[in-house]
Amino acid sequence: MSGHETLRVDLGGRAYDILVGTGLLATAGRHLAPLLGRRRVSVVTDEAVAALHLATLERALDDADIAHEAFVLPSGEQTKSFGHLEQLVDRLLAAKIERQSVLIALGGGVIGDLTGFAAAVLLRGIDFVQIPTTLLAQVDSSVGGKTGINTRAGKNLVGSFHQPSLVLADTEILATLPPRELRAGYGEVVKYGLINDPAFFAWLEGHGAQVVEGDPEALAHAVLTSCATKAAVVAADEREHGARALLNLGHTFGHALEAEVGYGTDLLHGEAVAIGMVLAFDLSVRLGLCPAEDAMRVRRHLASVGLPSGLERLGARTWNVAALLDHMGRDKKVRDGRITYVLVRGIGEAFLSQDVDPRDVEALLTSAIAA
Ligand SMILES: NC(=O)c1ccc[n+]([C@@H]2O[C@H](COP(=O)([O-])OP(=O)(O)OC[C@H]3O[C@@H](n4cnc5c(N)ncnc54)[C@H](O)[C@@H]3O)[C@@H](O)[C@H]2O)c1
Repeated sequence: MSGHETLRVDLGGRAYDILVGTGLLATAGRHLAPLLGRRRVSVVTDEAVAALHLATLERALDDADIAHEAFVLPSGEQTKSFGHLEQLVDRLLAAKIERQSVLIALGGGVIGDLTGFAAAVLLRGIDFVQIPTTLLAQVDSSVGGKTGINTRAGKNLVGSFHQPSLVLADTEILATLPPRELRAGYGEVVKYGLINDPAFFAWLEGHGAQVVEGDPEALAHAVLTSCATKAAVVAADEREHGARALLNLGHTFGHALEAEVGYGTDLLHGEAVAIGMVLAFDLSVRLGLCPAEDAMRVRRHLASVGLPSGLERLGARTWNVAALLDHMGRDKKVRDGRITYVLVRGIGEAFLSQDVDPRDVEALLTSAIAA
């Protein structure tokens, strides 16, 4: 793809465009200008991204006569905290932002979630724009308006729904992303095929290797298809009362693994989701809902691109079934004490269930750990 394509997130008064393509960072000023009440923006980014991409964005803003200042935060999950939120908000207020001011989140999911939450609470809500720089952020976190921070009690437990005004997903930015981060984001790409798009999953089986090697055409197709699904799901169920929860395929298990390992580089979010999706398929097979062959296809594909596809692949770590079940019981999606699972009838046929017997989950985890 040369240039870009435009998707619309159809949310009435909160509708916005997602631009997917190349050269978007270098022309960002032109795309931003129509949104700005005053020609001034505050860019929030992290140290690693600032070193690689901030200068390009600043040049693009200069080209469009948009004044700007940058707020550079440390890289890493720890930045999604009350402490960093407070510092950022204080600095933005000291810089005299106004209701018409626009924040720009230039970074991965950490910067996007934190900046979006700052935008949601500053002056009771100002606009923000997402310029996602990781594959995970381009296909998932930058679209849909979930913003927030982590607390001592767990991840993403404080936050708000606050939709961006624009998303600029420039796939060229991904060229500097460490290969492991790109692969982890690919876990979320696979998720879209598994939820409701078997043809996309089949395409990924044929082209996944090219995507994780950073082939521009393959990446562009993967990002565009993923964003189109996310945009449609969010438009149908902005606040996750129903269908949006399907996007949590693999996440109930995945979050438990992340919580157990401690959020860091031992297990990246997309890697945890990859294992979680295999567990969700295995659970569905165990319950007689899904053909075993489909679960095998998922496992084979994830392994073929170098993603972990089972607990046995995580080195010498000793997993504890009770601890994992305890984490799962604390999930945000628990309702009336029951865990909502995303199960499957096959590839591309996900559905929600609150009727899973905890003993089946325990048996599944026990056998996954022993494997
Ligand atoms: N809001 C949502 O709907 C949603 C959905 C999924 C995940 N998330 C959140 O997203 C976060 C994870 O996001 P992430 O995986 O993007 O992590 P991240 O933002 O920490 O980025 C990963 C690493 O890559 C670096 N980086 C980013 N872009 C780069 C680039 N182009 N070149 C080189 N290095 C680059 C960052 O500095 C960081 O060290 C988690 O906090 C998760 O909870 C939110």
